[in-house]
Amino acid sequence: MERYTDLDQCFRDVWNKMYRGAVKRNEDFHLPALATTDGEKPNSRIVVLRETDTENYILTCYSDIRAVKVANMKIYPQTTWNFWSKKLNLQVRATGKSTVMHLNEEARAHWEKISPRGRKDYCSDSAPGTAISESKRYDTHPDWWGKEEKMTVENTDFGFDNFALIQTIIDDVDVLQILRDGHQRAQFCRSRDEWEQSWVVP
Ligand SMILES: Cc1cc2nc3c(=O)[nH]c(=O)nc-3n(C[C@H](O)[C@H](O)[C@H](O)COP(=O)(O)O)c2cc1C
Repeated sequence: MERYTDLDQCFRDVWNKMYRGAVKRNEDFHLPALATTDGEKPNSRIVVLRETDTENYILTCYSDIRAVKVANMKIYPQTTWNFWSKKLNLQVRATGKSTVMHLNEEARAHWEKISPRGRKDYCSDSAPGTAISESKRYDTHPDWWGKEEKMTVENTDFGFDNFALIQTIIDDVDVLQILRDGHQRAQFCRSRDEWEQSWVVP
């Protein structure tokens, strides 16, 4: 990848990459790590980037409302999304406050677009992380799950109760380019509606 020569170009380009990551499955930026804290311990996990709003600087993923990260995020909303492209040797860290959308119109609009099979992640009997017996370890859904005639939009709609949208309004972006003849790093920080930008020591 070409070295960024201009901070404005760098900022535009990384937001474009985050946009493409949400709409194209095979993009490296489709699967960022999402980092949160419970106030003492940090944690991070891979998520699917579902939507990037490049006008309002919002990143969205889906989760189960019962997941630990969702509970943590309600108390400690500061969240970092970490993107890495091996192909481009590019790391982007985007940080901001997260909000959880649950049982509202916006969540419903996303939910409606998920196929019955795609709803599986939100339809387990118990919360993610609940201890289960060995025999149940990959079978945590109702008995009928997977039977073709049962897999309808109506039958899988109960999963909506567990479905959550995580949306982070980004106000810090840190970009690191790994280059053979010298790495470079840029930081972008938003206060109110203005982005301040600077090259920093990598
Ligand atoms: C490729 C991949 C994609 C994933 N996508 C999501 C996702 O979009 N949302 C999500 O909540 N978990 C996703 N997971 C699972 C999380 O990494 C994590 O295991 C799970 O959410 C439980 O995390 P928690 O206990 O910190 O809440 C994905 C995992 C992998 C490997």
